[in-house]
Amino acid sequence: MSENSNNKTSPKEPQNGLLHYLLGHGLIDQVELDECIQAQQALADQGEQASISGMLVTHGYLTRKQVDRITSLLEADKPLRQIPGFQMLEKIGAGAMATVYKAKQISLDRIVAVKIMPKHLSKDKEFVERFYREGRAAAQLNHNNIVQAIDVGEAAGYHYFVMEYVEGESIHEQMARGHKFTEKEALDIIIQVARALAHAHERGFIHRDVKPKNIMLAVDGAVKLADLGLAREIADLRAAASEAGRAYGTPYYIAPEQIRGERDLDARIDIYSLGATAYHMVTGRVPFEGPNPSAIMHKHLKQELIPPDHVNTKLSAGTAEVIEMMMAKNRDDRYKSAKDMLVDLECITKGESPLLARERLDAKLLTDLAEESSVSGQRVSIEGPIPTGDAVKPKPKPKPSPIQKPAVTPTPIAPILIWALVISIIINVILAIGYIFGSK
Ligand SMILES: Nc1ncnc2c1ncn2[C@@H]1O[C@H](COP(=O)(O)OP(=O)(O)OP(=O)(O)O)[C@@H](O)[C@H]1O
Ligand SMILES: [Mg+2]
Repeated sequence: MSENSNNKTSPKEPQNGLLHYLLGHGLIDQVELDECIQAQQALADQGEQASISGMLVTHGYLTRKQVDRITSLLEADKPLRQIPGFQMLEKIGAGAMATVYKAKQISLDRIVAVKIMPKHLSKDKEFVERFYREGRAAAQLNHNNIVQAIDVGEAAGYHYFVMEYVEGESIHEQMARGHKFTEKEALDIIIQVARALAHAHERGFIHRDVKPKNIMLAVDGAVKLADLGLAREIADLRAAASEAGRAYGTPYYIAPEQIRGERDLDARIDIYSLGATAYHMVTGRVPFEGPNPSAIMHKHLKQELIPPDHVNTKLSAGTAEVIEMMMAKNRDDRYKSAKDMLVDLECITKGESPLLARERLDAKLLTDLAEESSVSGQRVSIEGPIPTGDAVKPKPKPKPSPIQKPAVTPTPIAPILIWALVISIIINVILAIGYIFGSK
């Protein structure tokens, strides 16, 4: 499964709701689609008509049942074309959950983006409540690095979210086009997102879905975090783990406690997701790959992260340490706030060691040494500060092998024997002289 599978239809094929859905949800990929388009063309050359969905079934990429089910789902969720007060201009894109339009807000004569949620979500009362609560609260946030939420509303049974329109593209789109971020570029973007998060977190917001698709790069160079305040479906994760989960995107950036469905989630889930995003940007790889969402989620929970500087050996130790700390599996080992994370990110950009990540590494080193001393039964004295040179990461000392025994110092026997011999010779000489003179 690849994050970079793009969701654009072939240029030869007109945009089509069904194909867009199939590609966007990973039910088919572009190669399979192209193969069917070619086959369709070949039939057309022989004067035969065939639909693409028919070709996908004939080639075994979908079943007829799947096509029928998705077609009726799309029918029921036909996007809303008119919202009072807005003039819909064009469709900008569609994610796993919603469709986004460029629109003109007539009252203020300004261009906005309108995200229209699928109709079936209206049936979920809890979702609708959260959608309004979070959307309205987010409209109170105001930060240069946050896509401004403007309004939430409902028209003809559809719920919509109005936001600032960003002219530009997402980091995901840039990476899918093959753009590779330098360490400096990546840090610059991550810092701006961290500032957006610090602002939101301090005001009680958690994003819950920080990922490259939600980080937009505006043509004027601004970095904008999108979808803040957009309530997500509560069943997201349950669905993501199941087959139907293909509809919810792939969990490449999700925090372990979010996967476990813990109830007391806090801002540290966003720190983890931003760490995973940074990992992808500086290494060109997502932190954990897998054939399906459950396999990827399992790795977030259990598999040790390959340090990013092992994947991209040109990466500085400082950046690697910060990303590793952001992505600690146990949230107590992560930065406790976006503000703390910013301290370290700013240290790195100044060419200094990341203060807090180093403190944590040093503390770990001390713990390891203490453990080592309790294993060997010796006191450990630490002379002077632990070196924290920038280029080299302090590595914990290797533990002594348990079969090693303390060496026994040999007793110095030879000098004692020599001295005993000398003394006995002197005594014998004295006795001999005494005997000779005594007998005279
Ligand atoms: N405020 C905005 N201004 C301009 N374009 C936007 C805006 N918000 C979203 N878009 C565009 O609309 C597309 C769909 O966005 P959406 O948030 O629905 O899905 P996503 O974040 O790409 O993916 P997913 O549904 O997996 O979260 C995005 O790819 C983006 O290019
Ligand atoms: Mg989005």
